[in-house]
Amino acid sequence: MSDHDTAHPLFSPAELGKLELDNRVVMAPLTRIRAESDGTPTELMKEYYAQRASFGMIITEGTWPVQEGRTWGRQPGIETAAHVAAWREITDEVHARGGRIVLQMMHGGRISHPELTGTGRIVAPSEIASPNPIRISSGKVDGPVPHALTQEEIPEIIGQFVAGARNAMSAGMDGVQVHGANGYLIHEFLAPSSNTRTDAYGGSPENRARFAIEVVTAVAEAIGAENTGLRLSPEHNIQGALEEDREDVLTTYLALAEGLADLGLAHVEIVHHEPEGELVQALREGFGAPLILNTGFSRFSTRDTAFGLIDRAGAAAVSVGRSALANPDLVQRWREDGPLNDPDPETYYGGGAKGYTDYPVLQRT
Ligand SMILES: Cc1cc2nc3c(=O)[nH]c(=O)nc-3n(C[C@H](O)[C@H](O)[C@H](O)COP(=O)(O)O)c2cc1C
Repeated sequence: MSDHDTAHPLFSPAELGKLELDNRVVMAPLTRIRAESDGTPTELMKEYYAQRASFGMIITEGTWPVQEGRTWGRQPGIETAAHVAAWREITDEVHARGGRIVLQMMHGGRISHPELTGTGRIVAPSEIASPNPIRISSGKVDGPVPHALTQEEIPEIIGQFVAGARNAMSAGMDGVQVHGANGYLIHEFLAPSSNTRTDAYGGSPENRARFAIEVVTAVAEAIGAENTGLRLSPEHNIQGALEEDREDVLTTYLALAEGLADLGLAHVEIVHHEPEGELVQALREGFGAPLILNTGFSRFSTRDTAFGLIDRAGAAAVSVGRSALANPDLVQRWREDGPLNDPDPETYYGGGAKGYTDYPVLQRT
């Protein structure tokens, strides 16, 4: 361990909106599928998040604001009084340990199934099914053709995001991160492959950015922009949300940035494999908000990649997924350049304490 590394800004405090972080290592949103079947968080989830309170900030797993936005059974919600009460226990415990916790609010859009949504339908910008199978109680099935939201229905969906955000703040969250990444509802509007609308919400890049702008603006008006963040994954090309024309991507996401820049968001988190490249750097300038960076599934986050994101890509903080899952005390381990536990993919989604709350902390001699 060199003094230089220990003193790296990654381990120094940062301000994200009104939030003061003890360090710049953020736990990335990680779906773990261990809530009750009605979406209520559990005691085990409380233990899991509490174990990770030394991260500069925790972003929770994707959490549905409304059951129609649910993607998996046993994914948590933030819709009912029971959800709010259970999340409140989690936020209290994280805060008691000096941590910060922000709820990722996720509407799955077409990455779902009527069995999960409770409304007899799944919704999306256009009637285009997910190319990937969907997991339901009987196993994996073809993605159903979604209901294309009408212009009249869109304000109702936005209202559901707002209600979820208010609930998150009632549950004691330090803010909300709107999930605009990874091929779920907001990303389905942004990507031309999943949005073939011809009205004000489709067609041009500016129109495809409109839904995201309206959702984030409405959430920010309800709970304060200083409590509102946004996650994006341009060019991630995941779950059929394909963005393969760089010019179109730049125009779309810069329109989004322009639509949101004046709000003063708490953070924008960008997942991209080239964080120092043209696109991410244009968005960093365009949004003008504190930037959290993550290099995506293709590259495993390491201590060195984290240093690089701060030193060379302009990140205010770095989010870490798989290593955070496997190392509750990752910040200490990275600070000391200590050994790491390896994550076990077999226990990522669903199950109990195994591969969830039983990863050991660093042993002291
Ligand atoms: C088990 C698992 C669950 C994930 N769930 C979410 C999620 O709920 N929301 C989200 O935006 N990203 C999710 N991701 C993506 C991660 O936040 C992160 O971008 C990805 O793991 C790459 O970062 P890493 O190399 O540090 O793991 C998930 C990733 C994994 C491995």
